Amino acid sequence: MALFTFPRKIYFQRDIIDNLDEILNSENSNNVLIISDKNIMSLHGERIIKNLKKGYKIFNDVLPEPTVDSIERAFKELGNEKFDTVIAVGGGSVMDFAKSIAIKISYPDKDLREVNPFETIRLNVKLIAIPTTSGTGSDVSFGIVLTDGERKLALGNYELVPHISILDSSLTPGKKEIIRATGIDAFVHAFEALSANTATIFTDALAEKAIDVIYRNLKGAMENDENAKDLVHLSATMAGMAFSNSGTALAHALGHSFGATFHIVHGTSVGLFLPYVIEFNSSDEMTKMKYKRVERMLQVDDLVDSIIQLYRELGQPYRVKDLGIKSDEYFSRIDELVSKSIQDSELAFNPVVVGEEDLRNIYKKAYGD
Ligand SMILES: [Fe+2]
Repeated sequence: MALFTFPRKIYFQRDIIDNLDEILNSENSNNVLIISDKNIMSLHGERIIKNLKKGYKIFNDVLPEPTVDSIERAFKELGNEKFDTVIAVGGGSVMDFAKSIAIKISYPDKDLREVNPFETIRLNVKLIAIPTTSGTGSDVSFGIVLTDGERKLALGNYELVPHISILDSSLTPGKKEIIRATGIDAFVHAFEALSANTATIFTDALAEKAIDVIYRNLKGAMENDENAKDLVHLSATMAGMAFSNSGTALAHALGHSFGATFHIVHGTSVGLFLPYVIEFNSSDEMTKMKYKRVERMLQVDDLVDSIIQLYRELGQPYRVKDLGIKSDEYFSRIDELVSKSIQDSELAFNPVVVGEEDLRNIYKKAYGD
């Protein structure tokens, strides 16, 4: 069954966070649980609660890559307090945590490991997402990634698409490296959503626009130009709406394994593989046509060349060797990278079927001459 989901409302404006109380009024939210982490709360906590006239509680103990146990513990800590709204303020981990807490509030006995897209879930709290980076798209997605012992669980349900997303780029970091890595992640989300074999005209429209805006504005955003930062922030959410309704694909499958093996941040690592993935996926006629359309939109002659040119301007690596990884070490671990990537569920959405040999070839080529 074809389905396209996104939040009921997206509030977007620089400094709109100062109107949070007004937004909560219009939602009839009177008792809110704010989920965040210590870093975000030390940066923005005061500003967020300053104008808040509602009853609220802050849980700011979310750690990166939240575990099932940490959510169960937090839920117990909340005791019998009643909330009508859960607000996530943060990046992907905070969103995952908040979505999980919203499930536990609605279904106290639910085993989070069993959450899946095929069951009916009805949350009895409103979920509001306030992303503090411009990249993950999890403010508009139905997915949750949790850690359970050694396992990473990719869970999800359409009911977990936040009811409201609030986009305020004044909450995003000013550090160039973070803006680049998260912006490149969003850029790759848009490309992968566009080429995914589950893409639709809805996702294509969002993905194309996000590519165009990020391509033209990421450099300005890195220089902290406010207008460019606003546009990249909105585009990251558009890319999120696109990929959470179609999929991410080969660049993510390659980047996940590479990033985990060599400890490279997510956006940098998926971004590195994008040019090779575009070359590889161009063997599919339909995908090639889509890339041609992007070339016309960006007014460039060659998509791969122009992405590499953009990467050079931004300082985003497009060769493994640029990351200072020694060739002996890299090539000795390619089998390991291939065997991890071939199991990545994102591969299912790639427009061209990918085998181990294809992965090996791309990994080799990506090292650089
Ligand atoms: Fe990503």
